[in-house]
Amino acid sequence: MCGIVGYVGHRQAADVIVDGLTRLEYRGYDSAGVVISPRGEAASKLDVVKRAGKLSVLKDALVTSPLQGTLGLGHTRWATHGKPNDVNAHPHLSEDYKLGIIHNGIIENYLELKQELLAKGHVFLSETDTEVMVHLIEEHYRGDIVEAVRNALKQVTGAYALVVSHADHDVIVAARATSPMVLGLGDNENFVASDVPALLPYTREVIFLHDGDMALITQEKITLTDFDGNAIEREVSTIDWDAEAAEKAGFPHYMLKEIYEQPTVLQNTFGGRFVGNGTDVQLDLKLDPMRVNRVVITACGTAYYSGMVGEYLIERMARLPVEVEVASEFRYRQPVLDANTLCIVVSQSGETIDTLEALREAKRQGAKTLAILNVKGSSISREVDDSLYIHAGPEIGVASTKAYMAMVAAFELLAVWLGRARGTLPDSEAAEIIKALRATPHMVEDAIKERHHIAEIAEAFKGFSDYLFLGRGINFPTALEGALKLKEISYIHAEAYATGEMKHGPIALIDDQMPVVCVATASELYEKTVSNIQEVKARDGIVIALANPEDEQIKAHADYVIKVPQTHELVSPVINVVAMQLLAYETAHRLGLDVDQPRNLAKSVTVE
Ligand code: F6R
Repeated sequence: MCGIVGYVGHRQAADVIVDGLTRLEYRGYDSAGVVISPRGEAASKLDVVKRAGKLSVLKDALVTSPLQGTLGLGHTRWATHGKPNDVNAHPHLSEDYKLGIIHNGIIENYLELKQELLAKGHVFLSETDTEVMVHLIEEHYRGDIVEAVRNALKQVTGAYALVVSHADHDVIVAARATSPMVLGLGDNENFVASDVPALLPYTREVIFLHDGDMALITQEKITLTDFDGNAIEREVSTIDWDAEAAEKAGFPHYMLKEIYEQPTVLQNTFGGRFVGNGTDVQLDLKLDPMRVNRVVITACGTAYYSGMVGEYLIERMARLPVEVEVASEFRYRQPVLDANTLCIVVSQSGETIDTLEALREAKRQGAKTLAILNVKGSSISREVDDSLYIHAGPEIGVASTKAYMAMVAAFELLAVWLGRARGTLPDSEAAEIIKALRATPHMVEDAIKERHHIAEIAEAFKGFSDYLFLGRGINFPTALEGALKLKEISYIHAEAYATGEMKHGPIALIDDQMPVVCVATASELYEKTVSNIQEVKARDGIVIALANPEDEQIKAHADYVIKVPQTHELVSPVINVVAMQLLAYETAHRLGLDVDQPRNLAKSVTVE
């Protein structure tokens, strides 16, 4: 999940690399480094600058010690092996400064390889698994760097994206096993990066590397082979994202910009998918809904909570049994799947390793697979049978907002589509739900208008150390997502419970020191929710209720009411999550925290 950028061409490589790393900083940001090659001058050495801390620390160091040269590699790190410090930062170099390496992912057999290399006299400087690759490639080097990398990789197991440069060779060698890597094709210059945004100011022509691909990148051309050196070809894709789309557009934080983008995102997710006089949904899927008798949804974090909403929706509309499980558990518990099981994986990045491996497990067992995804060309998109894209655009804020809303919207579409095809969702109900879905962009706009009131609530409770979130039915996942958002960016401890569960334990925690955020919008269980709120009040609890504007009754029971537009109960999670996102944002902002890059987190988790 770290960021990689490599460049060879006619510009100063350090400038291109630092610019690209800035666009990837959301991937990892505990240390950063750049290595530049003087491009083949005899007996030359690589130049390196690397620093612990955010990219700004590296940028300052490069002002004092500028690096000159037109071939180079750079990295922002999110530590796995070894703590974030200057020595463990990438690039890693050989003792003679000839060989420089950057690596994302994990070399699983690094301890075993390290023992062998130590026995052969190699001296290790860092605590990283990556440094093993430096010594292993050195060990295989006989004057041909490509051959040396190829032979080294034969000894390695794990998931990685690797880029290598050597002072005596005018080439960047890149190799991919699981961790994402994309090549950028320029005019008399070429690029490699872990993600597309790094390349956008320079080129839109890209090649996504597949697992087992190696690329030899020179100023003039890119040659692709497999790990045995056999030539391969990959399609060139043109990226149609607007580079502006990845900027903050005047907002103080990406997260806030992305919250405000949600009405447009919904329009994009729904775009062209409602048909038949507003009673049907059209999805471009190969899947035959009549050949499914069970659904299993698996994903991580926020994407997993969208899957929990999906469970309610698919069970209600398509009358199929649905199970939801976190992907990191799913693949280790020998799940029972068969050819009539539809396994749905959900991922914004399409690169989350746990989700990717869960997909692979489902495929191994012969299940049908479908991915709800944002990033096209991602690893999951290439392995799954069918993809349903959410079209949320690039999400930069580490805490997911617009992707979550679009995932829930995609589940709404999928549930209607399945229900219609299976004959379990009558015309009238489909029409009602689709009408409600069509109104969501405006309703989300209205929900965002509560921001100033939510900011006052955030101000009142920013100093509290615990929060409880309650929701039931299809809004239980909304409560879970609210608690996750608050934890992630404000570092306030927050727990979420299904409202009816409160009296089975968490009620013991209620006092005047723990705000309780409760989803109390219109639902079949509204009256029961109001009783639960009264139970909190009876114990001196502080209640912040999410309720519909017409609800007068709630004011008598809640200390604060956040108004959320009223919609069909099955559509309400799309609208209700906005208040949760804004409460987390306003709290973290008031605490002076780094909203877009919360501590210990990274945008895309490509290691286990
Ligand atoms: C939370 C968050 C994470 C991700 C999770 C899965 O705000 O962003 O919990 O949802 O890491 O990521 P994707 O969707 O890329 O698979």
